[in-house]
Amino acid sequence: MEGSSSLGRADCRAKGGAPRFKVAILGAAGRIGQPLAMLMKMNPLVSVLHLYDVVNAPGVTADVSHMDTGAVVRGFLGQPQLENALTGMDLVIIPAGVPRKPGMARDDLFKMNAGIVKTLAEGIAKCCPRAIVNLVCNPLNSTVPVAVEVFKKAGTFDPKRLLGVTTLDVVRANTFVAEVLGVDPREVSVPVVGGHAGVTILPLLSQVNPPCSFTPEEVNALTDRIQNGRTEVVEAKAGAGSATLSMAYAAAKFADACLRGMRGDAGVVECSFVASQVTKLPFFATKVRLGRTGVEEIFPLGPLSEYERNELEKAKKELAESIQKGVFFIRN
Ligand code: NAI
Repeated sequence: MEGSSSLGRADCRAKGGAPRFKVAILGAAGRIGQPLAMLMKMNPLVSVLHLYDVVNAPGVTADVSHMDTGAVVRGFLGQPQLENALTGMDLVIIPAGVPRKPGMARDDLFKMNAGIVKTLAEGIAKCCPRAIVNLVCNPLNSTVPVAVEVFKKAGTFDPKRLLGVTTLDVVRANTFVAEVLGVDPREVSVPVVGGHAGVTILPLLSQVNPPCSFTPEEVNALTDRIQNGRTEVVEAKAGAGSATLSMAYAAAKFADACLRGMRGDAGVVECSFVASQVTKLPFFATKVRLGRTGVEEIFPLGPLSEYERNELEKAKKELAESIQKGVFFIRN
């Protein structure tokens, strides 16, 4: 099923005019992968879009390829086609994985997804080691360290090029804060630091832009809602899954920021979970500046409120354990 469009034409189009990039989505037939594929097909910075999955990739590819936007779409099904899916890619987005189901132990989820990330990271190390990688697969606090260990083993690790996607936390924070302030969420920017699960998600409500202030009750309620946004969706969907549409939007927003950085746009800043020296932990999410080679600058935490300093300690404790788990998975 490879090659829904001719290779020669795709390459011609990519060369002409403004820089455009080759993007692969691994896990493209999933509940996040499908709407993400649609959104990336709509992105004018994408010249070629490779859709890879172990199931249903041909259907999703045929469907998305009928959209009359510029990106040329090609589908790849199953492990034997992984290398072709990855070769030549500038940006690889990974929403592959198993979502947590009711009754599923966190540890079982971790082992399954760590195994998937390992396989896909090995493919990236072999076929497109210079690509920028956006990792979506949960539990992110552990899967980012898994991917790093794989890249280190392969001798291809570049801390600037591996980014854990925490944008859903930022998107939720912007929305919930805007609701409280009674403004348009597009006018609000909330830095969310730490990690991407429970108490490791730390919205810095003292640093909201435009500057504003909240009562201690509002800070508590907002922090809790942002940290537990996932539960809100899981309960509302009542057994029919978790966040997939808002997640696809968040991943597409983050990928677009990466592509704008790769194009050379100035001042592209997003939060992301990356290898970092902002704290003593080897990985941490903060604001980062995105450029031609990925993460070009990692911003410090900035001044924190007393509430945030306390929450930070809780976040660091849990994060340390999650990171260790990822590292241990590969080293043992
Ligand atoms: P899903 O089960 O609907 O889709 C996952 C897709 O991955 C499936 O199509 C499956 O065939 C594919 N897949 C499985 N193994 C693969 C492999 N070895 N290679 C390529 N593809 C493979 O799950 P959903 O809801 O789309 O979630 C995907 C992942 O995203 C989960 O790990 C979930 O926990 C995570 N997630 C991350 C969020 C974030 O904010 N970073 C938010 C929500 C979910």
